[in-house]
Amino acid sequence: MKFEAAIRQKKNREKIVVLTAYDYQIAKLLDEGPVDIILVGDSLGMVFQGRKDTKKVTMDDMIYHTKAVSRGAHHTPIIGDMPIHSYDTPENAEENARCFLKAGAHGVKIEGNDPDTIKRFVKSGIPVMGHIGLLPQTAEVYRLQGKNPEEAERLLQDAVEVDKNGVFSIVLECIPEILAKQITEHVNAPTIGIGAGRFCDGQVLVINDMLGLNDGFSPKFLKKYANLTKTIKEALEKFSHEVRTGAYPDKEHTYH
Ligand code: KIV
Repeated sequence: MKFEAAIRQKKNREKIVVLTAYDYQIAKLLDEGPVDIILVGDSLGMVFQGRKDTKKVTMDDMIYHTKAVSRGAHHTPIIGDMPIHSYDTPENAEENARCFLKAGAHGVKIEGNDPDTIKRFVKSGIPVMGHIGLLPQTAEVYRLQGKNPEEAERLLQDAVEVDKNGVFSIVLECIPEILAKQITEHVNAPTIGIGAGRFCDGQVLVINDMLGLNDGFSPKFLKKYANLTKTIKEALEKFSHEVRTGAYPDKEHTYH
């Protein structure tokens, strides 16, 4: 069965687990664990490159990281996040999506309701994930979307159209959970929430955030499942102390 069909089948049956990865080692860990989709997110602009947003991430950046992830994950579908301007027209969208597939991705994600591009992907057999709500590539400020009735109605209509055009799943980012529930009930494709509450068909988080590596970033939706900042800081302290006192390397860690 194609992976998109397997993901679709989970709707109303089983929650879908999605995490981002940007490198070989994390991809390998996710591939060994119970993760349904690995997303090579353009969030790498922030967590990997130290930029303030995703607006300067390029196709070259995304392809580099997709290749690294694909060397680590051999069982889990990999979705490449198409960066800003890589899908300005349906033609350049298809060309760039094919670069993701060549780099080891199984499908792509695009932000917003872009009927021509989604239809083109579907016609060409390129699995595509939608993304509605907060769209970091074009947002001026990161804020909750769909709070007033007009905005909520527009997001619902966008989700319905994106669904109708054939995406295999839809990321819902930073919207009230009542709206996410309504969208989830109105569309056939599974919804994958990030900051969209409890009623989505699945959840996605940025791996660095959920592992507690991104110390200064604590939005309400984010649950930190580990505190790697603390673990790394403790290891660094210990290493420097042991080097300075001569405790490392000891006999056990020396070639004889
Ligand atoms: O870039 C990304 O990691 C994303 C997810 C947060 C959905 O788009």
